[in-house]
Amino acid sequence: MVTVEQQRVPRKRTYLMCAPRHFAVEYAINPWMDVTAPVDPELAVKQWDRLRETLLGLGHEVQLLAPEPGLPDMVYAANGAFTVDGTVYGARFKHHQRTAEAAAHRAFYESQGWRFIAPNETNEGEGDFAYLPEAHGGLILAGYGFRTELPAHAEAQEALGRPVVSLRLVDPRFYHLDVALASIDDANIVYYPGAFSAASQKVLAQLFPDAVLADADDALAFGLNLVSDGANVMLNSEATRLASRLETAGYTPVPVELTELKKGGGSVKCCIAELRH
Ligand code: ARG
Repeated sequence: MVTVEQQRVPRKRTYLMCAPRHFAVEYAINPWMDVTAPVDPELAVKQWDRLRETLLGLGHEVQLLAPEPGLPDMVYAANGAFTVDGTVYGARFKHHQRTAEAAAHRAFYESQGWRFIAPNETNEGEGDFAYLPEAHGGLILAGYGFRTELPAHAEAQEALGRPVVSLRLVDPRFYHLDVALASIDDANIVYYPGAFSAASQKVLAQLFPDAVLADADDALAFGLNLVSDGANVMLNSEATRLASRLETAGYTPVPVELTELKKGGGSVKCCIAELRH
Protein backbone atom coordinates (compact mmCIF):
# COMPACT_ATOMS: atom_id res chain seq x y z
CA MET A 1 0.00 0.00 0.00
CA VAL A 2 1.22 3.50 -0.81
CA THR A 3 0.89 6.14 1.89
CA VAL A 4 0.15 9.59 0.56
CA GLU A 5 1.67 12.38 2.67
CA GLN A 6 -1.09 14.69 3.81
CA GLN A 7 -0.34 18.33 3.16
CA ARG A 8 -1.70 20.28 6.14
CA VAL A 9 -2.35 23.95 5.50
CA PRO A 10 -2.29 26.55 8.30
CA ARG A 11 -4.91 29.31 8.41
CA LYS A 12 -4.11 32.66 10.00
CA ARG A 13 -5.94 33.09 13.30
CA THR A 14 -6.78 35.84 15.74
CA TYR A 15 -6.44 34.83 19.37
CA LEU A 16 -7.23 36.39 22.73
CA MET A 17 -4.95 35.89 25.73
CA CYS A 18 -4.72 37.31 29.24
CA ALA A 19 -1.37 37.55 31.05
CA PRO A 20 -1.05 35.55 34.30
CA ARG A 21 -0.10 38.66 36.27
CA HIS A 22 -2.39 37.69 39.17
CA PHE A 23 -2.21 33.93 38.68
CA ALA A 24 -2.26 31.78 41.82
CA VAL A 25 -3.87 28.61 43.08
CA GLU A 26 -5.94 30.05 45.93
CA TYR A 27 -8.93 27.74 45.74
CA ALA A 28 -9.58 24.29 44.27
CA ILE A 29 -12.44 23.96 41.79
CA ASN A 30 -11.00 21.09 39.76
CA PRO A 31 -9.03 17.96 40.77
CA TRP A 32 -5.73 19.39 39.47
CA MET A 33 -5.70 22.37 41.80
CA ASP A 34 -3.77 21.89 45.05
CA VAL A 35 -3.69 25.02 47.20
CA THR A 36 -0.69 23.68 49.13
CA ALA A 37 1.52 23.18 46.05
CA PRO A 38 3.84 26.14 45.38
CA VAL A 39 3.48 28.11 42.14
CA ASP A 40 6.32 30.14 40.63
CA PRO A 41 4.54 33.30 39.42
CA GLU A 42 7.52 34.62 37.46
CA LEU A 43 7.95 31.36 35.64
CA ALA A 44 4.22 31.32 34.90
CA VAL A 45 4.52 34.69 33.16
CA LYS A 46 7.66 33.60 31.30
CA GLN A 47 6.05 30.41 30.01
CA TRP A 48 2.88 32.25 29.02
CA ASP A 49 4.98 34.83 27.18
CA ARG A 50 6.75 32.13 25.25
CA LEU A 51 3.39 30.69 24.19
CA ARG A 52 2.27 34.12 22.97
CA GLU A 53 5.53 34.59 21.08
CA THR A 54 5.15 31.17 19.48
CA LEU A 55 1.75 32.16 18.09
CA LEU A 56 3.08 35.49 16.85
CA GLY A 57 6.07 33.74 15.28
CA LEU A 58 3.70 31.58 13.26
CA GLY A 59 2.05 34.69 11.87
CA HIS A 60 -1.06 34.77 14.06
CA GLU A 61 -2.55 37.83 15.72
CA VAL A 62 -2.80 37.87 19.50
CA GLN A 63 -5.06 40.36 21.23
CA LEU A 64 -4.77 40.94 24.95
CA LEU A 65 -7.31 41.15 27.72
CA ALA A 66 -6.21 43.17 30.77
CA PRO A 67 -5.71 40.91 33.81
CA GLU A 68 -7.62 41.93 36.93
CA PRO A 69 -6.51 41.53 40.54
CA GLY A 70 -8.59 39.08 42.55
CA LEU A 71 -9.23 36.88 39.49
CA PRO A 72 -6.34 34.36 39.60
CA ASP A 73 -7.90 32.12 36.92
CA MET A 74 -8.35 34.91 34.39
CA VAL A 75 -5.28 33.67 32.50
CA TYR A 76 -7.53 30.86 31.23
CA ALA A 77 -9.01 33.16 28.61
CA ALA A 78 -10.72 30.33 26.74
CA ASN A 79 -13.48 30.23 29.33
CA GLY A 80 -14.79 33.78 28.91
CA ALA A 81 -16.89 33.43 25.75
CA PHE A 82 -17.38 31.47 22.50
CA THR A 83 -17.32 33.18 19.10
CA VAL A 84 -18.62 31.92 15.75
CA ASP A 85 -18.75 34.06 12.59
CA GLY A 86 -18.73 37.43 14.34
CA THR A 87 -21.22 36.52 17.06
CA VAL A 88 -20.21 36.06 20.70
CA TYR A 89 -22.07 33.77 23.07
CA GLY A 90 -21.04 34.99 26.52
CA ALA A 91 -19.96 32.84 29.45
CA ARG A 92 -21.62 32.34 32.81
CA PHE A 93 -19.25 30.62 35.20
CA LYS A 94 -20.25 27.77 37.45
CA HIS A 95 -18.04 28.78 40.37
CA HIS A 96 -18.46 32.14 42.13
CA GLN A 97 -14.67 32.61 42.25
CA ARG A 98 -14.69 33.15 38.47
CA THR A 99 -18.05 34.91 37.97
CA ALA A 100 -16.56 38.38 37.45
CA GLU A 101 -14.41 37.22 34.52
CA ALA A 102 -17.47 37.09 32.27
CA ALA A 103 -18.04 40.85 32.51
CA ALA A 104 -14.41 41.57 31.59
CA HIS A 105 -14.75 39.45 28.46
CA ARG A 106 -18.08 41.03 27.61
CA ALA A 107 -16.60 44.53 27.88
CA PHE A 108 -13.75 43.49 25.59
CA TYR A 109 -16.09 42.20 22.87
CA GLU A 110 -18.51 45.10 23.15
CA SER A 111 -15.68 47.62 22.85
CA GLN A 112 -14.80 45.99 19.53
CA GLY A 113 -18.35 46.02 18.21
CA TRP A 114 -19.00 42.29 18.21
CA ARG A 115 -22.58 41.07 18.29
CA PHE A 116 -22.78 39.87 21.89
CA ILE A 117 -25.42 37.45 23.16
CA ALA A 118 -25.62 37.30 26.94
CA PRO A 119 -26.27 33.83 28.36
CA ASN A 120 -28.92 32.81 30.86
CA GLU A 121 -27.43 29.35 31.25
CA THR A 122 -24.23 28.22 32.93
CA ASN A 123 -21.46 27.75 30.38
CA GLU A 124 -17.69 28.23 30.33
CA GLY A 125 -17.09 29.39 26.77
CA GLU A 126 -14.48 27.58 24.74
CA GLY A 127 -13.70 25.43 27.74
CA ASP A 128 -16.77 23.44 26.74
CA PHE A 129 -17.47 24.54 23.16
CA ALA A 130 -15.44 23.76 20.04
CA TYR A 131 -16.22 24.88 16.48
CA LEU A 132 -15.42 22.93 13.32
CA PRO A 133 -16.27 25.25 10.39
CA GLU A 134 -15.82 22.58 7.69
CA ALA A 135 -17.33 19.60 9.50
CA HIS A 136 -20.87 18.82 8.40
CA GLY A 137 -21.32 22.39 7.17
CA GLY A 138 -20.19 24.00 10.43
CA LEU A 139 -20.57 22.07 13.64
CA ILE A 140 -20.33 22.99 17.32
CA LEU A 141 -19.24 20.31 19.78
CA ALA A 142 -20.28 20.95 23.36
CA GLY A 143 -19.37 19.26 26.63
CA TYR A 144 -21.47 18.94 29.77
CA GLY A 145 -21.33 17.04 33.03
CA PHE A 146 -19.08 19.21 35.20
CA ARG A 147 -19.18 22.91 34.28
CA THR A 148 -21.37 23.87 31.32
CA GLU A 149 -24.99 22.82 31.79
CA LEU A 150 -27.00 21.05 29.10
CA PRO A 151 -29.55 23.89 28.55
CA ALA A 152 -26.62 26.13 27.53
CA HIS A 153 -26.09 23.89 24.49
CA ALA A 154 -29.56 24.74 23.17
CA GLU A 155 -29.01 28.38 24.06
CA ALA A 156 -25.72 28.39 22.11
CA GLN A 157 -27.42 26.83 19.10
CA GLU A 158 -30.07 29.58 19.13
CA ALA A 159 -27.42 32.28 19.61
CA LEU A 160 -25.05 31.04 16.92
CA GLY A 161 -27.29 29.28 14.38
CA ARG A 162 -25.10 26.20 14.10
CA PRO A 163 -25.96 22.65 15.13
CA VAL A 164 -24.67 21.81 18.58
CA VAL A 165 -23.76 18.23 19.40
CA SER A 166 -23.90 17.50 23.14
CA LEU A 167 -21.19 15.26 24.56
CA ARG A 168 -21.27 13.99 28.12
CA LEU A 169 -18.02 14.16 30.08
CA VAL A 170 -17.75 11.44 32.72
CA ASP A 171 -14.30 11.78 34.36
CA PRO A 172 -13.78 14.73 36.75
CA ARG A 173 -10.13 15.05 35.69
CA PHE A 174 -11.50 16.05 32.29
CA TYR A 175 -13.94 18.62 33.63
CA HIS A 176 -13.98 20.71 30.45
CA LEU A 177 -14.36 19.53 26.85
CA ASP A 178 -11.09 21.24 25.96
CA VAL A 179 -9.02 18.92 28.14
CA ALA A 180 -10.45 15.88 26.35
CA LEU A 181 -10.96 17.00 22.74
CA ALA A 182 -9.56 19.56 20.32
CA SER A 183 -9.99 20.56 16.71
CA ILE A 184 -6.82 19.92 14.72
CA ASP A 185 -8.09 21.55 11.55
CA ASP A 186 -11.38 22.92 10.22
CA ALA A 187 -12.92 19.48 9.82
CA ASN A 188 -11.19 17.06 12.18
CA ILE A 189 -10.55 16.47 15.86
CA VAL A 190 -8.29 14.64 18.28
CA TYR A 191 -9.79 13.24 21.49
CA TYR A 192 -9.50 10.82 24.39
CA PRO A 193 -12.52 8.49 24.24
CA GLY A 194 -12.33 7.56 27.94
CA ALA A 195 -13.36 11.08 28.98
CA PHE A 196 -16.80 10.59 27.38
CA SER A 197 -19.86 8.46 28.09
CA ALA A 198 -20.18 5.33 25.92
CA ALA A 199 -22.99 6.95 23.93
CA SER A 200 -20.98 10.14 23.34
CA GLN A 201 -18.03 8.02 22.17
CA LYS A 202 -20.36 6.47 19.59
CA VAL A 203 -21.51 9.90 18.44
CA LEU A 204 -17.91 11.08 18.01
CA ALA A 205 -16.93 7.95 16.11
CA GLN A 206 -19.88 8.44 13.75
CA LEU A 207 -19.22 12.14 13.10
CA PHE A 208 -15.42 11.94 12.95
CA PRO A 209 -14.32 8.58 11.54
CA ASP A 210 -10.86 9.99 10.75
CA ALA A 211 -10.22 11.52 14.18
CA VAL A 212 -6.84 11.09 15.84
CA LEU A 213 -7.27 9.21 19.11
CA ALA A 214 -5.26 9.97 22.22
CA ASP A 215 -4.62 7.61 25.11
CA ALA A 216 -4.99 8.24 28.84
CA ASP A 217 -1.33 9.23 29.26
CA ASP A 218 -1.58 11.83 26.48
CA ALA A 219 -4.77 13.19 28.00
CA LEU A 220 -3.47 13.26 31.58
CA ALA A 221 -0.39 15.16 30.36
CA PHE A 222 -2.84 17.84 29.13
CA GLY A 223 -1.89 16.94 25.56
CA LEU A 224 -5.42 17.48 24.29
CA ASN A 225 -5.56 20.99 25.66
CA LEU A 226 -3.97 22.11 22.40
CA VAL A 227 -4.35 24.83 19.79
CA SER A 228 -3.93 24.03 16.11
CA ASP A 229 -3.88 26.44 13.17
CA GLY A 230 -4.60 23.57 10.82
CA ALA A 231 -0.96 22.56 10.46
CA ASN A 232 1.03 23.65 13.54
CA VAL A 233 -0.18 22.15 16.80
CA MET A 234 0.82 23.93 20.01
CA LEU A 235 0.65 21.38 22.79
CA ASN A 236 1.97 20.69 26.27
CA SER A 237 5.56 19.49 26.01
CA GLU A 238 4.89 16.52 28.32
CA ALA A 239 2.52 14.93 25.81
CA THR A 240 5.32 13.43 23.74
CA ARG A 241 3.39 10.41 22.50
CA LEU A 242 0.53 12.54 21.25
CA ALA A 243 3.05 14.80 19.51
CA SER A 244 4.35 11.87 17.48
CA ARG A 245 0.83 10.67 16.67
CA LEU A 246 0.02 14.10 15.30
CA GLU A 247 3.23 14.12 13.33
CA THR A 248 2.29 10.79 11.75
CA ALA A 249 -1.02 12.35 10.76
CA GLY A 250 0.84 15.14 8.94
CA TYR A 251 0.72 17.92 11.54
CA THR A 252 3.70 19.77 13.00
CA PRO A 253 3.78 19.52 16.79
CA VAL A 254 5.03 22.63 18.57
CA PRO A 255 5.74 21.64 22.20
CA VAL A 256 5.14 24.35 24.80
CA GLU A 257 6.19 24.24 28.45
CA LEU A 258 3.43 25.35 30.81
CA THR A 259 4.26 23.63 34.10
CA GLU A 260 2.99 26.49 36.28
CA LEU A 261 -0.37 27.03 34.60
CA LYS A 262 -0.95 23.29 34.71
CA LYS A 263 -1.20 23.65 38.49
CA GLY A 264 -4.44 25.55 37.96
CA GLY A 265 -5.78 22.74 35.80
CA GLY A 266 -5.07 24.16 32.37
CA SER A 267 -2.58 24.25 29.54
CA VAL A 268 -2.24 25.69 26.03
CA LYS A 269 -5.88 25.83 24.93
CA CYS A 270 -7.16 27.15 28.25
CA CYS A 271 -4.95 30.20 27.79
CA ILE A 272 -6.19 30.98 24.27
CA ALA A 273 -9.60 31.95 22.95
CA GLU A 274 -10.03 32.09 19.21
CA LEU A 275 -11.73 35.18 17.82
CA ARG A 276 -13.78 34.00 14.85
CA HIS A 277 -14.85 37.07 12.94
N1 ARG B 1 -8.68 26.79 37.37
C1 ARG B 1 -9.52 26.93 36.21
C2 ARG B 1 -10.88 26.34 36.50
O1 ARG B 1 -10.97 25.36 37.17
C3 ARG B 1 -8.89 26.26 35.03
C4 ARG B 1 -9.62 26.49 33.75
C5 ARG B 1 -8.98 25.81 32.61
N2 ARG B 1 -9.54 26.22 31.39
C6 ARG B 1 -9.96 25.42 30.42
N3 ARG B 1 -10.35 25.96 29.31
N4 ARG B 1 -10.05 24.13 30.60
O2 ARG B 1 -11.88 26.85 36.05
